[in-house]
Amino acid sequence: MNETTLDQAVAKRRTFAIISHPDAGKTTITEQLLLFGGVVREAGTVKARKSGNYAKSDWMEIEKKRGISVTSSVMQFDYQGKRINILDTPGHEDFSEDTYRTLMAVDSAVMVIDSAKGIEPQTKKLFQICKMRGIPIFTFMNKLDRDGREPLDLVNELEEVLGIDAYPMNWPIGMGKGLQGLYDRYNQRVVLYHKDAQGNQYLPLEEDGTLASDHPLTEDSAYQDAYADMELLSEAGNQFDKEKIASGELTPVFFGSALANFGVKTFLDTYLQYAPAPAVHVDQAGEEIAPDDAEFSGFIFKIQANMNPNHRDRIAFVRICSGEFDRGMDVTLNRTGKVIRLSNSTQFMADARHTVEKAVAGDIVGLYDTGNFQIGDTIYAGKQAIQFEKLPQFTPELFVHVRAKNVMKQKSFHKGIQQLVQEGAVQLYTNYNTGDYILGAVGQLQFEVFQFRMLNEYHSEVVMEPIGKKIARWIDPEQLDERMSSSRNLLVKDRAGQPLFLFENEFAERWFKGKYPDIELTAKL
Ligand code: G4P
Repeated sequence: MNETTLDQAVAKRRTFAIISHPDAGKTTITEQLLLFGGVVREAGTVKARKSGNYAKSDWMEIEKKRGISVTSSVMQFDYQGKRINILDTPGHEDFSEDTYRTLMAVDSAVMVIDSAKGIEPQTKKLFQICKMRGIPIFTFMNKLDRDGREPLDLVNELEEVLGIDAYPMNWPIGMGKGLQGLYDRYNQRVVLYHKDAQGNQYLPLEEDGTLASDHPLTEDSAYQDAYADMELLSEAGNQFDKEKIASGELTPVFFGSALANFGVKTFLDTYLQYAPAPAVHVDQAGEEIAPDDAEFSGFIFKIQANMNPNHRDRIAFVRICSGEFDRGMDVTLNRTGKVIRLSNSTQFMADARHTVEKAVAGDIVGLYDTGNFQIGDTIYAGKQAIQFEKLPQFTPELFVHVRAKNVMKQKSFHKGIQQLVQEGAVQLYTNYNTGDYILGAVGQLQFEVFQFRMLNEYHSEVVMEPIGKKIARWIDPEQLDERMSSSRNLLVKDRAGQPLFLFENEFAERWFKGKYPDIELTAKL
């Protein structure tokens, strides 16, 4: 690919994640988007996959049982001249860390909100991550086919709770059983929910923003209310501002129903006009790496073992930040300096994966990994060494002792632990003195998934016992004296061999600080 075509190819990419509180409709909307992209032919494919009927992999069983989505996957399709990469994120809060890392790999985010519920806790948390990154955020108020809250109330809450300005691109005309359509302010038309007698879905608006006066809808109180709200917002609401959208200060708001496939296409079409193409990444040295730089670079934001249990494979997901990926190319892994040939690569669709030969900045490529990669690794092809910024790690707050139930099965136990820890599914620590394994997690469900996967993927039954510690604090190895350890502050090593104490509670930490005032403890390494 020469410079110009690389440039053009990159400009076509739109890479985003959909964030939401569980049950707001993320899977349903993803599915509609895939339908538009022609990737799935029937609604229900993703849903079926989610419930485990489609591609039945082990941990999806857990999702089925718990009714949650714990995995993230990547889906790519072409639509209206753009190449779209959707990164799915687990909605359950126990998997926030995974979601957090995925959000580092996207250029914008779509926030799906249940219009009956408004802003829910997980939406808020994920929103804050997007805001911190300064990426554009687009809002979809879902489930309009059900009775929900007043649209003005929803938009107010969005602004107040999340601290972002909102610009409604369209507005519901009625809702629930009384849903008539959308007043599409941005495209100056009314989109009918039920097509009229001529099969017409769109009614153009007059110059003053009203419907032609002889249309029966003008007599409808739902239309009149919507129009009044729109007038109010035009006078007192925010102005549409492209720059503010680009910097994440203003979120365009769309209403619709993912289930009824209403308003989703309007959303997608408009979204694509404002969603950004891949942006410049800044590496740790402060160098700007432009997406159309000729040399390839990227970082690994996710590792997933056993995506296909029949193949026992491990996939490292790379976000390409610059240049072009060519299957078989050599890259340098910055952490080790090792040169690795990327010959086994894959890309994902909703229901299949296939070998990828070429990909460019903005795309996500899955690399079959034999243990070379870690989350946060940077790979690059040029002469200039690149290390992208570290991916955030959550400090665990739950800790358990873990051992194999059957002492004769140590090999599969160790293998399973090593692989799942490398994935970032849980954190691993070892007791400084005994070498016993201790796992750390942010949420209890991470342990449950770990236990389930150890059994199903590695045939290792594990026993986990809570150790009653909650706070992890690192200590400078130079300052460490092993006698500082006691029953209230367990001394362990992390995977990099760095020492840390696990404290029972804040009281125990304060007690330690009182006793050793010169020792500096840090929350994160
Ligand atoms: P999630 O991925 O965000 O967790 O949500 P998901 O799409 O799985 O949707 C959660 C539930 O909400 C599903 O119902 C789904 O059918 C429903 N839903 C999604 N969008 C809409 C919408 O626009 N209108 C209405 N009325 N419902 C919607 P479920 O009963 O939990 O699952 P299922 O029985 O449909 O599989």
